[in-house]
Amino acid sequence: ENHLLQQLPLRGKKVLITAGPTYEPIDPVRFVGNHSTGKMGYDLAEEAARNGAEVFLVSGPSHLHLQNPNIHITRVQTADQMHKACLEVYAEVDIAIAAAAVADYRPKNVASEKIKKKDSCLHLELEKTVDILADLGSKKEKQFLVGFALETENEFENACLKIERKNLNLIVLNSLRDAGAGFGVPTNKVTLIDAHKAATDLPLMTKENVAAAIFQRIIQMTHA
Ligand code: CTP
Ligand code: CA
Repeated sequence: ENHLLQQLPLRGKKVLITAGPTYEPIDPVRFVGNHSTGKMGYDLAEEAARNGAEVFLVSGPSHLHLQNPNIHITRVQTADQMHKACLEVYAEVDIAIAAAAVADYRPKNVASEKIKKKDSCLHLELEKTVDILADLGSKKEKQFLVGFALETENEFENACLKIERKNLNLIVLNSLRDAGAGFGVPTNKVTLIDAHKAATDLPLMTKENVAAAIFQRIIQMTHA
């Protein structure tokens, strides 16, 4: 056995990561979705693997490629499929990070044929999707559970509410206010908040470096 490998901080640990958007079908050719590229989640997966973890990445539709051949990837489309894929490995993982931009609503009825254009308005009834992270929180045993929060107002308070509601150990608050943060850019500006509401502001940095900072914090908090 390679001596260096044994020193990696996440050696022997299993990590689950969700990434990307979900696509909720309207009819055979249309969906409700969002602009997530999956970049933050894929960078987290690479960082975990680099640190020696066995990584299970559950990814919504994304064009990104993985470098590390040791990452197990399950590709899904909908929130429901993402939820099921997470539950398949959740019991055995040590760390779970929800970086996916899961659609909050989905069409209540999915048309089996392509919806034809009419002169009148089209009314779509939407129902809530499953909150994957809240469900993982309710089933939490040994897992260290990390969520993201995307807020545009009362950011700190709303993020703290999510820590409680979803039973998290750590939340990564995304500031959409800052230029250079959010969807479709390679950089991000985040604040890490733990379950005691202790907050650390990180400077604007690449998503790769944000991923490294998140794992530094997780490793520190779990003495992994
Ligand atoms: N999340 C999830 N399943 C959902 C919705 C969100 O797993 N159906 C996860 C996200 O991956 C993220 C966290 O929950 O880690 C918070 O997502 P966010 O959209 O900020 O919060 P919501 O709980 O959806 O509330 P809202 O969008 O109203 O702020
Ligand atoms: Ca949401």
